[in-house]
Amino acid sequence: MNTVTVNASKAYDIHIGPGLLPAIGQHAKALGGAGMVCIVSDSAVYPFYGQIVKDSLESAGFTVVSYVFPQGEESKNGTVFLDLLNFLAENKLTRSDLLVALGGGVVGDLAGFAAACFLRGIRFIQAPTTLLAAVDSSVGGKTAIDLPAGKNLAGTFYQPSLVLCDTDTLNTLPEDTFRDGCAEVIKYGVLYDSQLFAHLEERGLEFYREAVITRCVQLKRDVVNQDEFDTGARMKLNLGHTIGHGIEAKSGFSVSHGKAVAIGIAIVSRAARCPDAQRIIALLDRFGLPTATGYSAEDLYRYTLSDKKRSGNLVNLIIPNAIGDCAIVPTQVELLKPFIEAGL
Ligand code: NAD
Ligand code: GLY
Repeated sequence: MNTVTVNASKAYDIHIGPGLLPAIGQHAKALGGAGMVCIVSDSAVYPFYGQIVKDSLESAGFTVVSYVFPQGEESKNGTVFLDLLNFLAENKLTRSDLLVALGGGVVGDLAGFAAACFLRGIRFIQAPTTLLAAVDSSVGGKTAIDLPAGKNLAGTFYQPSLVLCDTDTLNTLPEDTFRDGCAEVIKYGVLYDSQLFAHLEERGLEFYREAVITRCVQLKRDVVNQDEFDTGARMKLNLGHTIGHGIEAKSGFSVSHGKAVAIGIAIVSRAARCPDAQRIIALLDRFGLPTATGYSAEDLYRYTLSDKKRSGNLVNLIIPNAIGDCAIVPTQVELLKPFIEAGL
């Protein structure tokens, strides 16, 4: 097991390794104070891991209740969120009790937001079960639900008390969902770490999971320690995301987040004439991720303009100078369309 410690407004450990879920009860007990735990999970994850987590928590002396909602992004909404809050109230959880978010980014974002709001804040544990959640969404305290007007439009920064990343859970992940997470792993290599990038080139999908997840989490930890509230350095984590969000939205969310980000990374690498663009695109290809889109620059420009990260007339583009070296470049919106066109 590897442990990485975040030191933001709150300090917490992230444990990464195989076989961790059966020990979650002991880890929860070590946090102290709680008598009751609510496991929050989705309909695909709970049948695999719900009972293991429940048994472990009960063996450690907790009273356990479970809230399970239908899998998928469609559930990350206000209705499920309120229903979860009511469930916590009906089961009389108190301020010293705990939530466990058992699942991918959808479960983590929704449960984290509920933990932030219930009784003005109760503690929660992130137990990520997708590669994306392991390397990205379970770390750093961004919590959210979607609104009809767009993704992640209601949320808070609210750090977990512990992240328990059991790498065995990735064995049941559909291959396509695993590949989606790989786009975020490649992103860390392009942003910060040429050695990580080279390891991915060498091993492809057979990369050393525990070591690679740990490296990505260390990189995210460093960013979160430096810029917890996303006003500077943390923006770099949006590499490929501004154009990627445009692709997701234009497709009516039929193109997954990971694939849209992969296309976004390829487009900015080409448009910025990054000397390593061909290597970046070849690695995305090697992981079976797309690197081009049939949408026009006009289409992507229109959707990109509604990105929530736009500030006035400026969009912060994350531009790769080389593998392991990227810059935040505030770009006037008028220049965005020709930029996208150059990268298609
Ligand atoms: P997800 O949570 O929807 O999981 C993908 C699918 O895999 C779901 O159907 C889920 O039921 C299933 N699944 C999960 N773990 C499984 C397992 N071990 N075995 C079998 N099936 C499993 O999607 P995701 O890609 O993990 O997360 C995407 C979400 O994360 C989006 O809502 C996005 O906005 C959010 N996100 C948040 C942050 C953040 O910093 N908070 C960062 C990136 C993304
Ligand atoms: N996923 C982007 C962030 O945590 O800032």
